[in-house]
Amino acid sequence: MKRVGMLTSGGDCQGLNAALHGVAKALFECYDEEELEIYGIQDGYRGLINGEYRMMKREDFSGILCRGGTILGTSRQPFKLMRVVDENSVDKVQAMKENYKKMKLDCLVILGGNGTHKTANLLCGEGLNVVTLPKTIDNDIWGTDMTFGFQSAVDIATNVLDCIHTTATSHGRVFIVELMGHKAGWLTLHAGIAGGADVILIPEIPYTIASVCKALRKRNKMGKRFSILAVAEGAISKEDAGLTKKELKAKRAAMPYPAISYKIAKELEEATGQEIRVTVPGHFQRGGSPCSYDRTLSTRFGAAAAQLIVQKQYGNMVALRNGEIVPVPLSEVAGKLKTVPKDHSVVQAAREIGVCFGD
Ligand code: F6P
Repeated sequence: MKRVGMLTSGGDCQGLNAALHGVAKALFECYDEEELEIYGIQDGYRGLINGEYRMMKREDFSGILCRGGTILGTSRQPFKLMRVVDENSVDKVQAMKENYKKMKLDCLVILGGNGTHKTANLLCGEGLNVVTLPKTIDNDIWGTDMTFGFQSAVDIATNVLDCIHTTATSHGRVFIVELMGHKAGWLTLHAGIAGGADVILIPEIPYTIASVCKALRKRNKMGKRFSILAVAEGAISKEDAGLTKKELKAKRAAMPYPAISYKIAKELEEATGQEIRVTVPGHFQRGGSPCSYDRTLSTRFGAAAAQLIVQKQYGNMVALRNGEIVPVPLSEVAGKLKTVPKDHSVVQAAREIGVCFGD
């Protein structure tokens, strides 16, 4: 008998169900139904801690390839609190190990982002057999060229920029579209280019308002009636980039705006006298059906994860590298972040067509 547990953890994204579908379908191809038990663990690590799981049948994975969200539910369980015994005296790591044992699992399949991978690596160190799949709209997981969810979010964000373009053109306004990504600017960079943004501000390239104003004036001189800025939620000014993490957190908390884009809008309005509007699509970017690219990528990741289970190659994340799916040891992935290199070829291409990065 082969027993496999599956959980989805952290912020959701498109392609989670497609990936679960891929893992399950590939496993059912490898084992007879009476030889395989799949346990769906509810709401990520929380379900593993609390023992909330259910046995799943082949039919549970039917019709979910194109469905957004996750049929298992998800939750955020901060890595830094995993070793902290909670107010109900629950030792979370111990509880996860006990539930793993209770289900008699051969392997735990974990779908998640950066924080999730740190905990997956911790569980691996505790002797559990783990295989992971990289999900996030941020595309910031080290070790893989691409995460699933990213392309779907880029499509949504691009559509927002397209829509904003028509209204910005009519009114001759400056618009800021704030996109997700606190630490990594991949989504804003790619959607910004695809959506024809004139200015792209990402966390990796600190901006000055003076530089953005210069870009807006240049467009005015060219007779352009409108401008579009794609701004990552983690965009940071050069001044703030000099602050410590603690100082920055305090400054952001004291900011009288709901998001950084409103501050940038105010500063630009004061400096240019132009009318500025802000649009924040927020969780729209994580919602709805996965695009076809993500369905395929999730399926490839799922099938590869199943093969790792069959071959007992535990302790790995499946990754996309140079177009191929390969295993990467969890110990190499955990704790690292894949941010946009300042001189990345996509940044270069954007600069070459005149996009301003505010630096
Ligand atoms: O990690 C994915 C992500 O969507 C980030 O881009 C964003 O900053 C964050 O999650 C939002 O988190 P939450 O859904 O918990 O508000």
